[in-house]
Amino acid sequence: MSQRAAKLIFWVGTLSSLALFLGMTWDTHRSFAALTHADRLDANVVAGKRAFEKYNCNDCHTILGFGAYYAPDLTRAYKRLGEDAIRLRIASPEKVLAGSYRKMPQQHVKPEEIDRLVDFLRWVSDIDNHDWPPQDSATRWKAATRRLIGGAAMSPGAALVAQENCLSCHALGDAGEHRGPRFEYIATRRDAAWITRYLADPEAMTPGAVMPAFGTLSESQRRSVAEFITSLADRSTP
Ligand code: HEC
Ligand code: HEC
Repeated sequence: MSQRAAKLIFWVGTLSSLALFLGMTWDTHRSFAALTHADRLDANVVAGKRAFEKYNCNDCHTILGFGAYYAPDLTRAYKRLGEDAIRLRIASPEKVLAGSYRKMPQQHVKPEEIDRLVDFLRWVSDIDNHDWPPQDSATRWKAATRRLIGGAAMSPGAALVAQENCLSCHALGDAGEHRGPRFEYIATRRDAAWITRYLADPEAMTPGAVMPAFGTLSESQRRSVAEFITSLADRSTP
């Protein structure tokens, strides 16, 4: 190759990569307001960000790719845990996370600061960052569910019933609560296809249903749950 050809390749390659990089950077900046729902970025969200800094949450947690890798990523924490669970973890980490090998400190965060932190985490969880981080993608099995399946050799359906806290409302054997029908009883009157559809949208099948929708579960996950429930039919207690 002549020296002239080598120079040409260098300059064309460098300049076209630079143009592509600048163009994509400009395009990303142009879409920031829409991707982040800037219209919902109000004073409460900002106050939450300030509290996040005041208590150095970033010293242990990552959020939007920034922070330390000691504790779980908080980008999608609002969607993963829900509001009540987040409040509880910030207010009493020493109780809620007592069983964990790693510790979150009790920082005596004031109740109004917890409200603002929730506002902040809710806003962040709504940012469209193309299904990132992958561990919180709605199309994936939760890490905790995968641990249950692996660790206890549980059926996927049973693991999901445990992980999604169905027994906080339903009874199964000697366990659970009685806000909804007992699983063994449901097993005698419904088939797996019905339950699979019901879990995605209870209201559509039973108007006025109090039962929360589990549309975040994939169809095959809902079918696993349905098969687990219908497998209980022969153990039904009248
Ligand atoms: C010294 C480190 C540390 C600091 C500072 C800290 N955390 Fe944590 N946090 C943890 C650890 C460790 C866990 C996870 C415990 C476990 O489940 O293993 C956790 C868990 C959480 C969870 C639950 C996450 C999940 O997916 O289960 C939330 C929400 C949370 N922290 C919010 C906060 C907020 C908000 C702040 C700041 C006010 C904060 N944390 C400050 C260490 C910390
Ligand atoms: C917050 C309480 C609550 C939780 C959590 C809950 N359920 Fe329900 N569920 C109910 C109630 C109450 C009903 C009774 C029907 C109604 O009003 O919707 C019901 C009804 C059902 C039915 C239909 C019963 C029938 O024959 O009409 C199925 C199936 C069911 N739940 C499965 C589940 C599964 C699986 C989970 C966990 C993934 C779950 N539920 C979590 C409260 C709950």
